[in-house]
Amino acid sequence: MQESQLQARKRRILVTSALPYANGSIHLGHLLEHIQTDIWVRFQRLRGNTCYSVCADDAHGTPVMLKAQELGITPEEMVAQTRKEHHQDLLDFHVDYNNYYVTHSPENKAFCELIYKRLDDAGYISKRSINQLYDPEKEMFLPDRFVKGTCPKCGAEDQNGDNCDVCGATYSPTELKNPRSVVSGAQPVMKESEHYFFDLPQFEGMLKEWINSGAVQKEMANKFNEWFEQGLQQWDISRDAPYFGFEIPGAPNKFFYVWVDAPVGYMASFRNYCEAQGIDDTPYWSNNNDTELYHFIGKDIAYFHCLFWPAMLEGAGYRKPTGVNIHGFVTVNGAKMSKSKGTFIKGRTYLDHLNPEYLRYYYASKLNDGVSDIDLNLPDLAQKVNADLVGKVVNIASRCAGFITKRFDAKLSDNIIDQALLTQFQEAEDDIAYAFESRQYHKAIREIMHLADKANQYIDAQAPWVTIKDNSKQSFTHDVCSLGIHMFRILMIYLTPVLPKLSEQAQAFLNDDFSWDGAQTVKTGHSINKFKAMMQRVDMDKIEAMVEASKENLKETPSKKLSYETAGSTSSNLSADPISDTISFEDFAKVDLRVVKIVHAEAVEQADKLLRLELDLGGETRQVFAGIKSAYDPQNLIGKHTVMVANLAPRKMRFGVSEGMVLAAGPGGKDLFILNPDEGAQAGMRVK
Ligand code: MSP
Ligand code: ZN
Repeated sequence: MQESQLQARKRRILVTSALPYANGSIHLGHLLEHIQTDIWVRFQRLRGNTCYSVCADDAHGTPVMLKAQELGITPEEMVAQTRKEHHQDLLDFHVDYNNYYVTHSPENKAFCELIYKRLDDAGYISKRSINQLYDPEKEMFLPDRFVKGTCPKCGAEDQNGDNCDVCGATYSPTELKNPRSVVSGAQPVMKESEHYFFDLPQFEGMLKEWINSGAVQKEMANKFNEWFEQGLQQWDISRDAPYFGFEIPGAPNKFFYVWVDAPVGYMASFRNYCEAQGIDDTPYWSNNNDTELYHFIGKDIAYFHCLFWPAMLEGAGYRKPTGVNIHGFVTVNGAKMSKSKGTFIKGRTYLDHLNPEYLRYYYASKLNDGVSDIDLNLPDLAQKVNADLVGKVVNIASRCAGFITKRFDAKLSDNIIDQALLTQFQEAEDDIAYAFESRQYHKAIREIMHLADKANQYIDAQAPWVTIKDNSKQSFTHDVCSLGIHMFRILMIYLTPVLPKLSEQAQAFLNDDFSWDGAQTVKTGHSINKFKAMMQRVDMDKIEAMVEASKENLKETPSKKLSYETAGSTSSNLSADPISDTISFEDFAKVDLRVVKIVHAEAVEQADKLLRLELDLGGETRQVFAGIKSAYDPQNLIGKHTVMVANLAPRKMRFGVSEGMVLAAGPGGKDLFILNPDEGAQAGMRVK
């Protein structure tokens, strides 16, 4: 789009970011997307366009359901808690959604039912029975990621249900040798069940046209064209109970697959906001209107957003997205984020150590409109922020402000001493706006820093700290410093979408209220306020502390025996790297292991995995909840010895406080081992 068109009318835009799953923390990978979205949205708002942005937690699906069970709480409780945390994390990174909602909502249920009915009425839904792996112990069907076994190709053990990490083969879970359920350890059986399908192939023509119309980046469109050649398949949209989701109307015990209601969650989050604000949301979803709709997503979920979602929208009579903006993945220091290296960094851990605007600036300086991965190099981040923001931009103000306030009554001069220089700053506006609009933020940053260099060179050459001492050069010095402040102001206007807090400080200092067009006006004769330090240099020690604390996070993660914790998300392959998850001897030495005697054991009624144990540590009694119900009849445990972690921080669960953790070894399910009564075992004995 040309700059002239951008300016021509006030646009009405709705923007979304992908909805983070409610079973894990926001990490620096997620933040790339939220920051990319937020910069774009803030840019639009600064330009005077109407731009709403919504997001939500993605509440449904098997991983969320199982994680809640493991924690001994309802999925609703878990999701409510996670949503709050996620939202606060995002706010603290200055990510400003109009609404951060949750997909488990009445609005979403209503929209899903309506869309389903329309699709069904139009003949896009069919039913047929399929065979699927089923966990006979847990009595549930198993998603591919919840089955592990031996690779049918190379024989590597403990491989995922759909692909082998060792030889790279892909297969169906039914081909695995020696398959096991990750949930219970039981051997899965085949079971038949009726499923509901959405007729995606009917939309092939429309999708081809839409994808190649510029709605997605060219490189992704090419990828999709390859997929079209392989042919589109019917999409299985139902899941059997037990499932945390919305029941399909007229189909008891059948639920919408999480990927049906997740994108509908965009509509629901926006509806929830609009209802509270008295805004009509229908123009944003209906055909034949001048509104725009953009989804910002990662490349791993492009299939859902560029095939299923537009087809669902079209089939139900809604508009299709104006654009799906797809980004690549974050790597840290050149490698996949790794828990053992401390580079799997949660948003909250980052915030405990560093200023969120460092990350916003760094991502902006690297983001483009492509889908290649983005490396977060921590020393490079420190270097860039220190050199560019502290050393260049803020430096302009700090070099000029003091003279103006102390010597010139805090007033900028009435004269523009170098109009040609100032004009360069103003004329850069077009290019910078185009770079933001087209998501080539790195170009905007490059241009802004180029200008900052010019400003600093100018001030260096005029040397106001020398001329200020010469009485005959007072008005010259005043003019030079004023021009410095004008240039600083324009740069800060351009940086506002990226650095909203720094911009607020600049506005307070400049006694101004920024708009994008404000760059074209000059505040001659304007009064400014006292300059205060605006941004600290990045301290490498803090970066190191953050990396250390991220290793720390791993130790605090409760029991890893439930491997579905990491099998949780579609992007699980992109997060933890379990193979190199080792701890140092020092870490191990911190764990206080004791032999304890089980003096009481009983089942916890509301949780199907948990036993409540009372443990004698040789005088002291502790209560511990342990997920070993599948393996033990509580009666048989009483009087036995086991090993416990005695210095684990107490954890509040729904049924009470758990004051430690018992250790049991084995593949899980029924095969868990605890020490037998033994004369030699003495409660309270230290193990190491
Ligand atoms: N819940 C789904 C999205 C539903 S949208 C209707 C989901 N959730 S997620 O939590 O796994 O990912 C949320 C977003 O974060 C996705 O766009 C995903 O691509 C992005 N990222 C997750 N890890 C990432 C990186 N390491 N780097 C960049 N983006 C990453 O998918
Ligand atoms: Zn293999």
